[in-house]
Amino acid sequence: MIIETEGLTKRYGRRRGIDDVTLGIDQGEIFGFLGPNGAGKTTTIRTLLGHLRPTAGRARIFGHDVTANPVAIHRRLGYLPGEFGLYDRLTGAQTADYFAHLYGGVDRGYRNRLMERLGVDPGRRFRELSKGNKQKVGLVVAFQHRPDLLILDEPTSGLDPLVQQEFHALVREARDEGRTVFLSSHVLSEVEAVCDRVALIRDGRIVRTGSVESLRDLAHHQVLLRFAGDVPVAAFENLPGVSDVQVTGRTLRLRVGGPMTPVVRAAAAYDLLDFESREPGLEETFLRAYQAAS
Ligand SMILES: Nc1ncnc2c1ncn2[C@@H]1O[C@H](COP(=O)(O)OP(=O)(O)O)[C@@H](O)[C@H]1O
Ligand SMILES: [Mg+2]
Repeated sequence: MIIETEGLTKRYGRRRGIDDVTLGIDQGEIFGFLGPNGAGKTTTIRTLLGHLRPTAGRARIFGHDVTANPVAIHRRLGYLPGEFGLYDRLTGAQTADYFAHLYGGVDRGYRNRLMERLGVDPGRRFRELSKGNKQKVGLVVAFQHRPDLLILDEPTSGLDPLVQQEFHALVREARDEGRTVFLSSHVLSEVEAVCDRVALIRDGRIVRTGSVESLRDLAHHQVLLRFAGDVPVAAFENLPGVSDVQVTGRTLRLRVGGPMTPVVRAAAAYDLLDFESREPGLEETFLRAYQAAS
């Protein structure tokens, strides 16, 4: 395993940071760490990186305990902090150079391609850059030495949609080269679009871990049926998984949890003008998981 935590806990004095976080991330995964603001994403990441000392529990990266052997870890790591910055007077290119030197140099061709793909203006001073443009320099810094592991704290915040697409492509390329990506996000569509597996964090605790698909399976479908004649409510309301049944005129609305088959079978016996099924995105799944845990 590339990242492994056991009961990782960080308190800020008496305040909760994270509590009993246990995670395992394999090589070649794009792992999404999803949670709302204040859930504990940054605290987890900074504890993983050895910036914060855990109150309890432990974490290993590349098999090394993060409190014992940070140097062995950091050589092979690319990190994007939540707020990326260095010196305001350096340009984007100088900032990338500064970090490249720390790694004993990087492939400049690759570095320049990263800058082009993300649309970094290399000659602009850092202080003149918008949040999104600073973020792009930060991404170049994280990727430029082709690290085995990328840890990215809310990498797309402030990026416009086209740059986000390019970022997703970079992440997939890294994964396809056998590298590993751990990214935090509060943007569900992003995690859904790019991640292989996801952990949901809420109030400092992991509430769920699984594949993106397995999370989506938890969701309900919103189904709408429009009948040619009267609505046969009785044929639907007691079907497995069906809830929240509503009739308006000749329209029947219901929620379906789990397989759709019973509803489709029942519907086949009637004259239907319309059948709509909307699959909620990860967002709704996520809210449900949160409600279930409270
Ligand atoms: N330096 C700090 N001192 C005290 N509390 C903190 C500090 N940093 C974070 N916290 C608290 O820890 C919790 C988790 O914060 P954080 O890890 O930043 O969440 P996220 O990154 O998911 O938004 C929050 O309740 C936050 O207020
Ligand atoms: Mg954060």
